[in-house]
Amino acid sequence: MSKFVIDGPCELSGAVLASGAKNAVLPMMAASLMADSPCLLHNAPDLTDVLTMAKILEQLGAKVQRVDPDGSTLYLDPRPLSGHVVDEMLMRQVRSSIFLMGPLLGRMGRVQVSYPGGCDIGQRPIDLHIKGLRALGASFLEEHGHIIAERRKWEGIDIHLDIPSVGATENVMMGACLANGVTVIRNAAKEPEIVDLQGFLNSMGARIRGAGTDVIKIEGVRRLSGAEHTIMVDRIEVGTLMVAAAITGGDVAIPNAVAEHVQAVISKLREVGAEVKAGGQGIRVAGRGRPKPTDLKTLPYPGFPTDMQPQMMALLSTAEGTSVITETIFDSRFKQAEELSRMGARIRSEGRTAIIKGVPMLSGAMVEATDLRSGASLVIAGLAAEGRTVVGGIHNLDRGYERFEEKLASLGAGVRRVQDDEPPPSDGIPASGTRRSLWEERPRERAASGGEGALPSAWLSPSASLPGHSSSCAPPTST
Ligand code: UD1
Repeated sequence: MSKFVIDGPCELSGAVLASGAKNAVLPMMAASLMADSPCLLHNAPDLTDVLTMAKILEQLGAKVQRVDPDGSTLYLDPRPLSGHVVDEMLMRQVRSSIFLMGPLLGRMGRVQVSYPGGCDIGQRPIDLHIKGLRALGASFLEEHGHIIAERRKWEGIDIHLDIPSVGATENVMMGACLANGVTVIRNAAKEPEIVDLQGFLNSMGARIRGAGTDVIKIEGVRRLSGAEHTIMVDRIEVGTLMVAAAITGGDVAIPNAVAEHVQAVISKLREVGAEVKAGGQGIRVAGRGRPKPTDLKTLPYPGFPTDMQPQMMALLSTAEGTSVITETIFDSRFKQAEELSRMGARIRSEGRTAIIKGVPMLSGAMVEATDLRSGASLVIAGLAAEGRTVVGGIHNLDRGYERFEEKLASLGAGVRRVQDDEPPPSDGIPASGTRRSLWEERPRERAASGGEGALPSAWLSPSASLPGHSSSCAPPTST
């Protein structure tokens, strides 16, 4: 187990590339099982969730390998697929293992899974996944914590989702690819990851239209073949870096960000006074003094993403006034509030509402990341806080952020990874606990990319020049 030691306050500056999207690669890995030949997924992030999903596919008989010199491409060969029972321990580690239901029912006609794990952010039922797959013709039996499903028939159908669930939309969409006839998903989720999944499935030979709108039509086909696809850029990582720039009063460019995917975050950052330049591709954020307070409500895409709510809470903790956050998607997603309070934040939460009274400065403290996005919130709060912040529970961050500390360090942040049993680094001595690649044999070099990405040319004009990497960061303090 490792933790991050952050010496703040830091002012981030420079350019950094965001990685491929966790929430896009995971369903695609599951979808690859439906092909009758190998698939290649480029821009696949090096995350523990991806590694766990790879182990699940291998346990089912498929072959998964990282290929190409920097290891950013996943080679997935579904031909040796032999099993349909997903290992319970692996299933508990990654919620996205639930995505195996649709593809395995489509390809093998049966599947056995258990209730999935993932972030502890409140109740996360899977009734809509089951309802949709049942409508396509699967029978479900639930016993001893296992869900056993079998394909009785597999016919296209009109399905109306009670809630625009991202996962249920994707599961039904995948399952319906190999059904007879046309499936229509109404009140479908509209997240960009669903559009990306449609692109991958269509390149495998599926016939899907409408992803990105609330009605998706899937015309069943008899077979799907291997395909090659480049995974979209992670919009939540982009948003997290944007908020990190704003909270530190820094100036950060993310040349490969897709502005359209983070419009809700751009507009909130502008509201709080940050300067945001956004092209079709590429975003640059500069923090301008203390943020102004604002209210925000999480909503399905294109509303403000729940996955960015904890990071915004960190930012609003330093605002010049009181802000209100309403979380409408998950019922227990203010876990970071208590930890931020240890850093001097003034937050009161009740049910799905949090009231945040901004303070001029947070102060470093020992805090614990209890889930992926609350972890991100604590790290960016630590960057802005005075003194040393030690964030434990970093395995939660490794599930969804590729080489986070390396990217932040490339922007000038004083952040280091140390092992739990290691004494905190003293002044000026780098920590020895740098993260090891999940695929050791192919060290990755592309991700931590301070300054390596080309900015859109207009932003390179003298009046808009990025201030290199001259970020200021407080000298490390011992605690
Ligand atoms: C996905 C994302 C996650 C993000 C979430 C909301 C992936 C791998 N994860 O999660 O990062 O936070 O979307 O944007 O893509 N619900 C039900 N029954 C169901 C399914 C969902 O009631 O069967 C409810 C949930 O409890 C929640 C809401 O629907 O209140 C939305 O959840 P959903 O969109 O399904 O989230 P996930 O797909 O799990």
